[in-house]
Amino acid sequence: MNKEDMLNKIAEEIRNCTKCHLAKTRTNAVPGEGNPNARIVFIGEAPGREEDLQGRPFVGAAGKFLTQLIEGILGIPRSEVFITNVVKCRPVPNPNVPARLQRGNREPTEEEIRICSPYLDRQLEIIQPDIIVCLGRHSAKYILSKIGFHFSSLSKIRGNVFEGVIGKKKVKVFVTFHPAAALYKPPWRKIIEDDFRYLKSLMEGKRTKITLEDFF
Ligand code: URA
Repeated sequence: MNKEDMLNKIAEEIRNCTKCHLAKTRTNAVPGEGNPNARIVFIGEAPGREEDLQGRPFVGAAGKFLTQLIEGILGIPRSEVFITNVVKCRPVPNPNVPARLQRGNREPTEEEIRICSPYLDRQLEIIQPDIIVCLGRHSAKYILSKIGFHFSSLSKIRGNVFEGVIGKKKVKVFVTFHPAAALYKPPWRKIIEDDFRYLKSLMEGKRTKITLEDFF
C-alpha cells in the first residue's frame, strides 16, 4: 500500500470512529488533508464549526489566515503540505445537541486527546515529515511531550525549534500560536507572521535548530 492509500485507510477509520462521545454530535469527522509526501505537517487543536460542517481542516476564519501564512509567507501551495489536528471531531459545549446546531466550541479534554491522538501518531508515522508545526498549546503539549519536553507557558517557547524522534523519524518541531489567536488578539498576528518568516528560513536551511539543552 502506498502512503496515500494508508492515509486514506486511516481517514476512513476516523470517519467511522465511535471511540468517544464526540462521534455522537459531529456532522463530519475531520481526518486532515494534504500531500502524503509533505515535508511539513501543520497540527492544530480540533475542528471548529466550519470544519465540522465541511469535514476539512482549517477552512474557517483561522484557516483562511493559516492558508495566507503558508502560501504568502512560506511561498508553498496549501496542497503541498499536510494539515491536521490532534482531535479529529469538533468539541462542542453541549453533548446532547448536534454540533451543527451549536455555535460555540470548547477546548478538547485530556481524555479526548488521549483517545484520539493515536490517529495522529499513525498519520505522522506514514508521512514522515522533516518539520512539524504545532499551532497552539494543545498541539505543542502533545507533540513536545513525545520528545520529553514539558512547558508551562506557550508564550515562552513559541518561535523555537525542537528536535527529536517522532513517528520513527528525526524531526524538527516548530511551535507558534494558534492562528485563531490572531483573530481575537490582533497584536499576535504580527508575532505569528514573524514566526512563519523564521519557519521559512528554517525550511531553507538558513537557521539551525535550538536544542532542548539551550533552554537550561
Ligand atoms: N482550529 C483548529 O485547531 N483546527 C481546525 O481545523 C480549525 C480551527
